[in-house]
Amino acid sequence: MYMDIKKLKKAAQIYGTPLYVYDLSVIDRQLKKFKVAFNKINNYQIHFAAKALSNISILKYINSLGLGLDAVSIEEVKIGIRCGFKKEEILFTPNGVNFSEIREAVSLGVKINLDSVESLKDFSNSYPNQPVSIRINPGVYAGGNENISVGHLNSKFGIPEERLDEILEMELDKKIKVTTLHIHTGSDIIKDNDFQLGIKKIFSIAHNFNNIETIDLGGGIKIPYFEGDTETDLDNYAKIIKDELKKFKSKKGKDLKLIFEPGKFLVSDSGYFITKVNYLKKSNKNTFVQVDSGFNHFVRPTLYKSFHDIINLSNPNDEKFEYSVVGYICEKDTFAEKRKISKISSGDILCFRNSGAYGFSMTSNYNSRLKPSELCIHNNEIKEIRKREEFDDLLYGQIDIF
Ligand SMILES: Cc1ncc(COP(=O)(O)O)c(C=O)c1O
Repeated sequence: MYMDIKKLKKAAQIYGTPLYVYDLSVIDRQLKKFKVAFNKINNYQIHFAAKALSNISILKYINSLGLGLDAVSIEEVKIGIRCGFKKEEILFTPNGVNFSEIREAVSLGVKINLDSVESLKDFSNSYPNQPVSIRINPGVYAGGNENISVGHLNSKFGIPEERLDEILEMELDKKIKVTTLHIHTGSDIIKDNDFQLGIKKIFSIAHNFNNIETIDLGGGIKIPYFEGDTETDLDNYAKIIKDELKKFKSKKGKDLKLIFEPGKFLVSDSGYFITKVNYLKKSNKNTFVQVDSGFNHFVRPTLYKSFHDIINLSNPNDEKFEYSVVGYICEKDTFAEKRKISKISSGDILCFRNSGAYGFSMTSNYNSRLKPSELCIHNNEIKEIRKREEFDDLLYGQIDIF
């Protein structure tokens, strides 16, 4: 878990705080790691989950690595096309959107992944017997937090197994043609067994679909958040999949193609969220470190109770003390509670690790605060890839009627 402290400090000095910095070499490293684990599986495509990090420079970089795109909104589809992704390598996976959005995606030429019988019926009326992907609810409770466990029976996502007969009937009547089956059970999937349950389920369902060509296994790979933290055993993951592909081939005589949709795995560790300490406030038994940001800029700790290692870039090697690092938002706004960090003084620069995924992409202007800038480190150079917002950006689009 290497990080270039000098470079990150320099970025903060030049561009100010708060800001996000992404080290593109970490994306290369992660992609290589994936390819090594899956080297015995030849027919697969990686679709980066755009929702994790959608800055156009990052998406263009990822496109240059030969990846496709997982898009969940028509806007992500359009950004993907703008960034040069091939239309046939963009899979649009909406959830509960108006059918007009699906129609627009079809007209843009991207692939469609539907997750309800209701939307499939509309699809078959407009585009009878056209290839389509369907998202299955595998009935597996997986993921690091209830908000990101999306494949269980009570989840709004995916088509439940009990409704598959309706789909098979539509296919028999040549109303639809299911060529891809998709699952995404959750993010930060800790137990390898949960992956296994999902994979076994989707392959067993695939036997019923005669036009099936591709299985899309979604994202969810767990990455370590600190030294010694658990992570998905990629070799085991690949082995489980390989066994299922083999079984499918021997029963149906067909080689299936695979799609993976990693978000966090590719970009989480590439990102650093950097803030400056305003005050150290002593209160009862706490020492609150008050930084120049809040959950408006980095919501994961609040939303998911996610853990992010915090490094004091100004004083990384000093004795450690216990601090609660908090933001400036007018609600509970805690980045870390009673965390041991090397001695902090006001004016120090703090860096939150593993901020590349669902960091900037989940920012808001809550409390009428401006969004931070984004930088990347590429070939050892620091480059700005999004300007810090200015006051006028906050007013943009508002209509003063008085
Ligand atoms: C459909 C789909 N695919 C892929 C992902 C990426 O997940 P992760 O970042 O855990 O890899 C998500 C995340 O929510 C998703 O909804």
